[in-house]
Formats: sequence, structure tokens, C-alpha cells
Amino acid sequence: MTDTETGTRLIAAARVAARHAHAPYSRFGVGAAVLLTDGSIVTAANFENASYGLSLCAETVALATTSAAGRLADVIAIGVIGGAMDAEGIARGVAPVGPCGRCRQVINEAAQIGKRDIVVWCGAAEGDAMTRYLLSELLPHAFGPADLGIG
Ligand code: THU
Repeated sequence: MTDTETGTRLIAAARVAARHAHAPYSRFGVGAAVLLTDGSIVTAANFENASYGLSLCAETVALATTSAAGRLADVIAIGVIGGAMDAEGIARGVAPVGPCGRCRQVINEAAQIGKRDIVVWCGAAEGDAMTRYLLSELLPHAFGPADLGIG
């Protein structure tokens, strides 16, 4: 599978995951798909709360799920899509979205534990637009375990 095919696969999985976004407050659905070294994919959607500030981003939920499965060191790439929901709750739109700042820091935890830069595919709810980044481009000079004297 080429790099672009991998990105397309992750964006497709993220789109499916976004269908279970719990986002009744923002009505902005986000899906994330984490690719592991064995080719398996862990997906999640954003999970909002009536106490808005408690809401969790799709990428963070996907990586917490990956960690709970004992696979945090095995993350190679993550795909993310998002878009404003239509009346049926389906994310729409062709503009790619990228991970928020907090999620970049969460992705960095996997990068540090796995000792590899992580590929971040930013896609849209619909259409073909997709951009490939490295986490190190999205979060240069990241805070990590080394700053705590660990690792
Ligand atoms: N959101 C994510 O799930 N990931 C991001 O990287 C950016 C924002 C969610 C949080 C909230 O549920 C909705 O998108 C609108 O901010």
C-alpha cells in the first residue's frame, strides 16, 4: 500500500467513526483513525458533554483507546476528518481539518513512547482533499518526557 493509499484508508475509517460523534452542542462531527504497526486501525469520534469544557476530541479518545489496548508504542499514523453536521447528524464539508493543539500534544505522547515521528493525515468529511504532515511539523519543540528527565 502506498503512503497516499494509507492516508486514504485512514480518512475513510475516520469518516465512518465520525458517524458516532456525540456532538449535540457544537454540531461539529470529528472522526479519528489511528494506524498501528500491525496494520490494524483504532477509531473514535468526538465525545461532548453538557458541561462543554469536559468535551473530548476524537484524536484524544482514539489514542486513549489505543493506550488502553496496550498499543501506544505502536502508533504509526493518525487520520482526522471533521465537519459541521447536517440535519441527520452527518459531518459535511470539503475543507480538511487538523488536530487541535491539545491533541497534538496527546499525539506527541504516542510519538515519544513509540520513538517515532507520527504521520498526521488531515482530511475533510467529504471530497478528496487530504494533507500529510509529520507531527514534528505540527508541534515543533514539543514538551515531552525528556523535559521531565525521563527517557
Ligand atoms: N474537535 C475534535 O474532536 N478534534 C480536534 O482536533 C478539534 C476539535 C471537536 C471538539 C468539539 O467536540 C468539536 O470538535 C468542536 O470544537
